[in-house]
Amino acid sequence: MFSKINGIGLFGMNAFMISCEISTSSGTPTFDIVGLGDIAVQESKMRIKAALANSDIYLSQQRVTINLAPANIRKIGSMYDLPILVSLLSAENIIRRDISKSAFIGEVSLGGDLAGVRGALSMVIEAHKNGIEEVYLPYDNAKEASVVEGVRIYGVKNVSELAKHLTGKPVIPVTEPYIPTAGEYFTGADYSEVRGQENVKKAMEIAAAGFHNVLMIGPPGTGKSMIAKRLPTILPQMTFDESIETTQVHSVAGMLDDKHPLVTARPFRNVSHTASAVGLIGGSGIPKPGEISLAHNGVLFLDELPEFDRKVLETLRQPLENGEITISRAMGSVCYPCNIMLVAAMNPCPCGNFGSPNKKCSCSKLQVQNYLNRISQPVLDRIDIQVEVAPVNFEEMTAKEKGESSAAIRERVQRARDLQERRYKGTGIKTNSQITPGLLHEVCVMSEEAKAMMRNAFDRLGMSARAYDRILKVARTIADLDGEEIISKKHISQAIGYRSLDRKYWASR
Ligand SMILES: Nc1ncnc2c1ncn2[C@@H]1O[C@H](COP(=O)(O)OP(=O)(O)OP(=O)(O)O)[C@@H](O)[C@H]1O
Ligand SMILES: [Mg+2]
Ligand SMILES: [Zn+2]
Repeated sequence: MFSKINGIGLFGMNAFMISCEISTSSGTPTFDIVGLGDIAVQESKMRIKAALANSDIYLSQQRVTINLAPANIRKIGSMYDLPILVSLLSAENIIRRDISKSAFIGEVSLGGDLAGVRGALSMVIEAHKNGIEEVYLPYDNAKEASVVEGVRIYGVKNVSELAKHLTGKPVIPVTEPYIPTAGEYFTGADYSEVRGQENVKKAMEIAAAGFHNVLMIGPPGTGKSMIAKRLPTILPQMTFDESIETTQVHSVAGMLDDKHPLVTARPFRNVSHTASAVGLIGGSGIPKPGEISLAHNGVLFLDELPEFDRKVLETLRQPLENGEITISRAMGSVCYPCNIMLVAAMNPCPCGNFGSPNKKCSCSKLQVQNYLNRISQPVLDRIDIQVEVAPVNFEEMTAKEKGESSAAIRERVQRARDLQERRYKGTGIKTNSQITPGLLHEVCVMSEEAKAMMRNAFDRLGMSARAYDRILKVARTIADLDGEEIISKKHISQAIGYRSLDRKYWASR
């Protein structure tokens, strides 16, 4: 007797189809599983035997060999329990449904219940690509999986229910496709609560419009953290495709729950400065996504930037440049997306008052330098917009009228995003921050005056090629907010202004 059941495997975020082949014969009872399974796969025998017995299903076959094909791909995890178990049922000839276009995922407990698995969304997407029409998976994963259009999802609670269903009695209902509500906005806080700091809010608006990285430097209590935390209120809603991408990462990390089967609000990951490199960019045994990937399509907020371990910050360089991160392990490499907006805040020195107009800094020159030097030039270089946050004056603090609302700012951001979407259609680029070198001069056309100013700045400031590119991209965004196609002198001048803190604070290097 020989049969084949479809299953789906996962490594990192890469899902792949497997088929579970079973061969049975009479003789001394044996149960072997071959096909590069890890310990969890080897142990599935015990779980499955107990689960079947506890579901009152008794097998007549004695010698059983299971092959998880393709045999050259490692199978790690417990999601293979279910296809193995269904293979056994099929060998018993008790399956009466056509399951040639079905796939099975899930871990079974000794008692016969199914336990949720991580990464279900990625696995169902892969199954759909391979022509699978229905997927049986643990009930806990059903809502998440039902987001994928064109696949029937069966949420299975336990083995006996599944066995009954497969014998022909349709006892498990098809999961209603989850229709996500439109992308959510972040609520609960608003830019109207921030007094003064108009230039900082403008910088955040530009950053949000072009998805640029931004750094705020200033003394304590001036509103840096407050301003950063309100950034999600001016970012455009997530599109459905962005939701799916981000949800896949959260699914692999095991961070979804029944109430939130789809991530619909842009992530805002406020990471503690005690974070390790693994916590930030991902890794460990079977590489897990780090904060930078959990923030995919959203914001990674690093408050008190110099308090982070310098080595940890350096690990951000590659992912920030590439928008994805590859983690290599002996068992294979894993790639996670991390198209993020980095938002960082810091004091300029240990006491916080260096450069302040009204407070005296009590640090030595060396202390200030050491503090600033915790941020390396390459990391700094990747931050397109740097802005100084000065103390708010009394008039601003006590002014009657509130600041502009987040909704009003968001409207301008959205308009600039719409422009970018039209401009980059079909290029794979979403925002100005992602403009490729090949496209830079085509999409960033400057007026003659603007060009002259850029040339002047390039020579005078000893600008690097990278700084030049980044200034041009920010100028592109400022022009988009103005609704202008040609970049003018005013746009260039503002964009250069956002790179001047480099020279004020880090002039010595
Ligand atoms: N511009 C502002 N408008 C209104 N309230 C403000 C402003 N700046 C600061 N505050 C008030 O001060 C509190 C502290 O501000 P916040 O934590 O943002 O300062 P910070 O610049 O991050 O300081 P630190 O450098 O110490 O982290 C805020 O929660 C808010 O109540
Ligand atoms: Mg703060
Ligand atoms: Zn100081």
